[in-house]
Amino acid sequence: MNKKYIVRSASREYPIKWYSSLSELVAAVSAQVRPGDMLLVDSNADKYYGKFFRSLFATGKVFVIPSGEKSKSFSQYEKLTRALIRSGANRKTTLFALGGGVTGDLSGFIASTLLRGVSFVQIPTTLLSMVDSSVGGKTGINVPEGKNLVGTFYQPLSVHISMEFLQTLPAGHITGGLAEIIKSALLRDKKLLREIQKAKDAIRKRDPEILRKLSEKAVTIKADVVSEDETETGVRATLNLGHTLAHALEAYSRYKGITHGEAVAIGMHFAVRLSASLGILAIKKANEIIAMLRETGLPLYLQEYSTLKKASPEKLVAIMKRDKKNISDDIRFILLDEPGNALLPQPIPDTTLLTELAKFIEEGNK
Ligand SMILES: NC(=O)c1ccc[n+]([C@@H]2O[C@H](COP(=O)([O-])OP(=O)(O)OC[C@H]3O[C@@H](n4cnc5c(N)ncnc54)[C@H](O)[C@@H]3O)[C@@H](O)[C@H]2O)c1
Repeated sequence: MNKKYIVRSASREYPIKWYSSLSELVAAVSAQVRPGDMLLVDSNADKYYGKFFRSLFATGKVFVIPSGEKSKSFSQYEKLTRALIRSGANRKTTLFALGGGVTGDLSGFIASTLLRGVSFVQIPTTLLSMVDSSVGGKTGINVPEGKNLVGTFYQPLSVHISMEFLQTLPAGHITGGLAEIIKSALLRDKKLLREIQKAKDAIRKRDPEILRKLSEKAVTIKADVVSEDETETGVRATLNLGHTLAHALEAYSRYKGITHGEAVAIGMHFAVRLSASLGILAIKKANEIIAMLRETGLPLYLQEYSTLKKASPEKLVAIMKRDKKNISDDIRFILLDEPGNALLPQPIPDTTLLTELAKFIEEGNK
């Protein structure tokens, strides 16, 4: 292991550990597993990496989660929870989650409710889960009414990261993870934005060293924010930059054909344009950010996805209205006043949003 970072949230302190190889990570996990502990593993992560982890757990203590957002559901929650209980889960059981954000969010939610809370460990295998979802303790599932509408704040015992998992990750999910790294930079770190810009070719080639360096910085930004505000009463809300529109895009496309991170990339692009239209961010600075998003290969417009081609401003606004983060009638957006500085959620009137979304869609049609 060559790096460790301690997250200090109000409810728990825990380490994020980066390993220079998968075998080092497996050895560390092996030392942490006790008899009776259980593994929840994403089906694709199992296909590629199950052979390294399954033998660490006793027979009957490994549970596979079908790949995909549809697993963040009540039915999967019920199925797994009951299976864990039948297999002898008790209050000393630790659940190990091996997979992307879907596995982490679902396993964390199960861990937080099973027997009123058992420990869990995150082993993220996608770039997005390494830089974002495995840290901070948000767990949850989706319901037909919207994404992540049922969940808890529940911190893991530890997070183990190796970039070696990324060798098998489909390209769209590298782009998605990169979007969340850029988000962290846009929120808090102008210097990291410049580093990302410089490293754009290496990023496209998945240079593990570069990805690792950028990821470490992004994670520490997230961990700092979470340490300041674990349960999102203030500054943590800024982590939702790009997410108001992203969640609507995902829901509109029924979680198919676009990854969460790709939707966040389009959502960030829109948030930057909105910040400029409202006179909060200088147009020159907005254009610089947009050029950078383009250069790093992130998707910018809805039209890049067949499932979103027919999305209208009216429909997207209706979906956003249901979002749980809208504590008033207004839809709220995270806006930037500077690259590297985000404002707390700002209410945006529906009329403004409809106009800006129409402009955004028209721009994408050009
Ligand atoms: N809790 C949080 O704070 C937080 C933050 C951001 C996002 N999220 C959630 O995270 C989820 C998205 O996470 P994600 O992008 O990791 O998606 P994911 O978990 O669906 O994984 C993406 C795909 O990659 C596959 N996969 C995983 N690891 C692999 C590997 N190493 N090699 C090959 N294939 C692999 C999976 O089977 C899946 O098909 C969303 O549900 C989102 O809401 C949560």
